Amino acid sequence: MTGINYSEKIPNNVNLSEDRTLQRALEHWQPNYLSWWNDMGPEGSQNFDVYLRTAVSVDPQGWAQFGHVKMPDYRWGIFLNPAEQDRKIHFGDHLGEDAWQEVPGEHRANLRRIIVTQGDTEPASVEQQRHLGLTCPSQYDLRNLFQVNVEEGRHLWAMVYLLHKYFGRDGREEGEALLARRSGDADNPRILGAFNEKTPDWLSFFMFTYFTDRDGKFQLCALAESSFDPLARTTKFMLTEEAHHMFVGESGVSRVIQRTCQVMNELKTDDPGKLRAAGVIDLPTIQRYLNFHFSVTIDLFGADQSSNAAIFYSSGLKGRFEEGKRTDDHVLKGQTYKVLDVQDGRLVEKEVPMLNALNEVLRDDYIKDSVGGINRWNKVIEKAGIPFRLNVPHKAFHRQIGTLAGVKVSPDGRHIHDHEWNTHVEEWLPSDEDRAFVASLMGRVVEPGRFANWIAPPMMGINRQPVDFEYVRFN
Ligand SMILES: [Fe+2]
Ligand SMILES: [Fe+2]
Repeated sequence: MTGINYSEKIPNNVNLSEDRTLQRALEHWQPNYLSWWNDMGPEGSQNFDVYLRTAVSVDPQGWAQFGHVKMPDYRWGIFLNPAEQDRKIHFGDHLGEDAWQEVPGEHRANLRRIIVTQGDTEPASVEQQRHLGLTCPSQYDLRNLFQVNVEEGRHLWAMVYLLHKYFGRDGREEGEALLARRSGDADNPRILGAFNEKTPDWLSFFMFTYFTDRDGKFQLCALAESSFDPLARTTKFMLTEEAHHMFVGESGVSRVIQRTCQVMNELKTDDPGKLRAAGVIDLPTIQRYLNFHFSVTIDLFGADQSSNAAIFYSSGLKGRFEEGKRTDDHVLKGQTYKVLDVQDGRLVEKEVPMLNALNEVLRDDYIKDSVGGINRWNKVIEKAGIPFRLNVPHKAFHRQIGTLAGVKVSPDGRHIHDHEWNTHVEEWLPSDEDRAFVASLMGRVVEPGRFANWIAPPMMGINRQPVDFEYVRFN
C-alpha cells in the first residue's frame, strides 16, 4: 500500500491505472510540465547527472533512494501518505464528523483556492532559483539546490493531482495556469508577493530556504489537518521532503557565518570593508539579508485579521499548526487573540476574535520556530569568540500586508517617522551596494571537494558520501 509503482508512466501510490480518465488527464499534463521544466527549470543543467534522492515508498523509513539521474528524467509522481482508518474531523463546526473523501460542494471554491495558492509557490521557487546553478559555491551545494528544485516540482505534481482528481474541468484549467504564470512577470505573476522576488545570489537562496521554505512547512502543517482527507494525506508526505529544504538553508547560512568568523579572527577585525576585501560576507550584511527575508516571509501568512481565515478554519478546510496537540475546544468561538495595531504613533496590542486572527496565530507559531535556527547561528559566532549576535527583527518591521502595511517600524520595534526610516534603512535592509558586493562573490566552483572562499565546507556529505564526492557529473 505504501510502496510506489514506478512501472507506470506516472509513478504513484494511488492506483492511478484504475482511473483511466484521471490517468489520461495527467498524462496530458505531463509533457506540458516537462516543457515548463525545460524552459524554467535549472538553467543549463538538463544534461547533468545529479546525485538525487527519489521516494520509493512513503514509509517513514527508507523512502529515499539515491543515485545519479538527469533532472528531466526525475520520476516525478503522486505520493500520498496512507489513509488513516475512520479519520474524523478534529476542529471547526464539523468537529467529530467523518473526514471528507470528496469535496463538499459548498467548500469547493475555497478548497480550490487554497490548493492553487499552495501549488503556485512550488514552480515559483524553481523559477526564482533557476540561475543559481551558474554560480554555485561547490558541487555539494549545487546538488542540494537541484534536490530542492526537483522536489518543488514534485510538490506541484501533488497539488495538480488534487486539482485533476477532485475539481474536474476547473481543476484541469488551474493545472495549466500553474504552468503559465511566471515568477516576477509583470503580466502574469505568481500569486504571492515573496514568490515574485528575485533569488539572485546564494546568500538569498540559503535565507529563502531557511525562512520561506519554513513558511511552506507551516502552511503544509495547517493543511495536513484538513477535513478534506486527500489534501491532508498529500501534504503530510510533502512535509517529509520540506525538512531537507530547511536544512539546506540553515546549514548554508551557518557555513557562511562560520567562514566569516574564521576570517574575522585571522585578520583580527570586524571592519566590513576589510572583510569584504578578504572576500567574505560581513555579519551586518548577513543581518540585513535576514531582516529582508524574515519580513517578506511573514507577510505570506496574510492579513492579521481575516474573515477568510475564520471561514477556512470553521468550515474545517485548514487547521492550526499542530491542531491535534492543542488542548482547547478546537472551535474557538468567543475566544480572543492579541494582534498589533498603531495608536497615537505607538504600536499597541489589541484583543480581537481568535477566529479572525488565525493568520496571526500561524505567523506567531512560525516566528517561534524560526528563532531556533538563529540561536544556532549565534552559537557559531559565540564559539568563535566574537561578540556580535544576529536577531530576528520585530514582527512589525518592513511589512506590506495587513494593519502594519507600510507602517514605519525599526527592527527593535519602535514606530518611527519617515525621516528616521530613511536615515537608517541601509543599516536595516540590504542596499544595492550590499547586493552588488554579494553578487561579486558569486563565482562558479565545481571541482569535487572545493568550496568558494566565502563559505565553509559542510560537516559531512549527503547520504554518508564524502564531502568531495562527485555529486554532479557535468558530461
Ligand atoms: Fe514545496
Ligand atoms: Fe520547499
